[in-house]
Amino acid sequence: MTALDVVIMAAGKGTRMKSSMPKVLHRLAGKALVQHVIDTARTLKARHTIVITGHGADQVEPALLSANPNDNLQFARQMPQLGTGHAVQQTVPLLDDDAVVVVLSGDVPLTQANTLQALIDLCDGQQLALLTIEFADPTGYGRIVRSPSGQVHAIVEHKDANEQQRAINEVYSGIMAVPAKLLKPWLARLDNNNAQQEFYLTDVVKFAEADGVPVVAHKITDVAQVAGVNSPTQLAELERTYQLRQADAFMADGVRIIDPARFDVRGTLTCAQDVEIDVNCIFLGSVSLGQGVKIGANCVIANCTIEAGAVIHPFTHIDGEKLGVTVGEGALIGPFARLRPGAQLAAEVHIGNFVEVKNSTMAKGAKANHLAYLGDATVGERVNYGAGSITANYDGANKHRTVIEADVHVGSNCVLVAPVTIGAGGTVGGGSTITKSTEPGALSVARGKQVSIANYKRPEKLAK
Ligand code: UD1
Ligand code: CA
Repeated sequence: MTALDVVIMAAGKGTRMKSSMPKVLHRLAGKALVQHVIDTARTLKARHTIVITGHGADQVEPALLSANPNDNLQFARQMPQLGTGHAVQQTVPLLDDDAVVVVLSGDVPLTQANTLQALIDLCDGQQLALLTIEFADPTGYGRIVRSPSGQVHAIVEHKDANEQQRAINEVYSGIMAVPAKLLKPWLARLDNNNAQQEFYLTDVVKFAEADGVPVVAHKITDVAQVAGVNSPTQLAELERTYQLRQADAFMADGVRIIDPARFDVRGTLTCAQDVEIDVNCIFLGSVSLGQGVKIGANCVIANCTIEAGAVIHPFTHIDGEKLGVTVGEGALIGPFARLRPGAQLAAEVHIGNFVEVKNSTMAKGAKANHLAYLGDATVGERVNYGAGSITANYDGANKHRTVIEADVHVGSNCVLVAPVTIGAGGTVGGGSTITKSTEPGALSVARGKQVSIANYKRPEKLAK
C-alpha cells in the first residue's frame, strides 16, 4: 500500500471573518475548523500530516500541537502567501517520493474520509486525481475544462477564464490526490503569469497533460463536503448543516429529537434506545444517555453519564469537566438544576430547582429538592436535604468534607460547617448552623432560642 501524506493549507488570512483569531481556529461543532481536517487525515491513517501556516502561525501551531499531542504534526511556514502552489512548495522538503499526497484546506472542515479514500484510489499512485463538483453558480471557482472526449484538460481560475470557460459549471473543489514524485517537479515549474500574479497549484494539471500523466476527476454532489468557511455567515450555515446531519443520524438510530433544527452536539453523544430530547439542548464533550432517558428543553449537558430512565427537566446545566458527572437510574433532575464536576448521583436521586451539587456522592433515593448547595459531601441513602441548606465546605484556605449518613433529615436553611458528620437517622432542625458532628438518631438544633415578648408595641413616628 502506498503511504499517504496529507498537506493542509492554512496560511490564508481569512479577512472576511473580521476576527483577531486565525480563521482555521474558529470552531465548528466545538472543534477548530482545521482540527476537523486533521481528524479526517487520522482516519485515513496518513503517514505525515503537514499543516501549511502563515497568517497567525504563532497561534495556529501551538494550538494544534497541544490539541494533537500524539500525532507528530509537521508545519511548513509560508511567508508571504503567494498562492496555493507556493503554499504547497513549502512542504516539498517534507514529502517523500513514495507518497501519495492529498492536498486539503484547513477551512474546509466537512470532507468525509470515504470521499478522500475514493480520490486516493482513483489516483492509484500514478495519476493526478481532482475532486470536483458542479455548482449552479460557479463564480469565483476554478473551472474544470474538459476536452471533447471528456478528458480533464485544465483548471482555469475564474479571474483568468474567458466567457466560454466561465459558463462551465464543474469546478475544482481545492482537493487533489497526487503522487509526490510527480508533484515535486511540477511545483518547481509553476509561475505566476496570471490574472492574480499568484502561484496556482491548479497549474499542475497543465504539466500532467504535458507529461502524459492522466488527470482524473472524482465528481461529487454533496456541497457541504467541499464548502469552505470565509465568513461568520458561512460558518453558521455549515454548523447547521453539520448539526442537522448529526440529528438525522441519531433519529435513524431511533433517538426522538423533537426538533432537529434545535439540537446541537459539540463532541460525542451516545444514546441507548428510547431516548427523547426536547428542543434547544446542547451536548458537549462526551455524554452518554441510557435507555429511556428524557432530556427537557433548554438543557446544557457536558461530560456526563445519565443512566436508564433518568429524567432531566428543562433548563438544567450539567458539566462534569474532567471529573465527570453520573446521574443514576431513574433519577429526577431539575428544572433549573446545576450538576458540577464530581457529582455522582445514584439511582432515584432527586435534585430540584436551584440546587447545585459539586464533587459529592448521593446514595440511592437521596433528595435535595429546592435552593440548596452540596459541595464535597457524602450523602447517604434516603437523606432529605432541606430547602436553602448548604455545606460550608471551604474555610477560606482548604476544602473539607461533609458526611450525611443514611436517613438523615436536614431541615431548611441549615449550614453544615465541614468537616462534620451527621449521624445516621439524625435530624437537623431548620435554621441550624452545625459545626460539631452529631450522634446517630439525634435531633440537633443550633440556632438562637425563640423569644416572644407579649403585647409588644412597635415604635411610633415622633411628632415634629
Ligand atoms: C482555490 C483554487 C480554485 C478552487 C478553489 C476552491 C487555486 C489557484 N485555485 O481557489 O481552483 O476552485 O480553491 O475553493 O488553487 N492558501 C494558503 N496560501 C496561499 C493561498 C491560499 O495557504 O498563498 C490557503 C487558504 O488559506 C485556503 C486555501 O489555501 O485555505 C485555498 O485558498 P483560497 O484563496 O480560498 O482559494 P482560491 O485560490 O480562491
Ligand atoms: Ca486566492
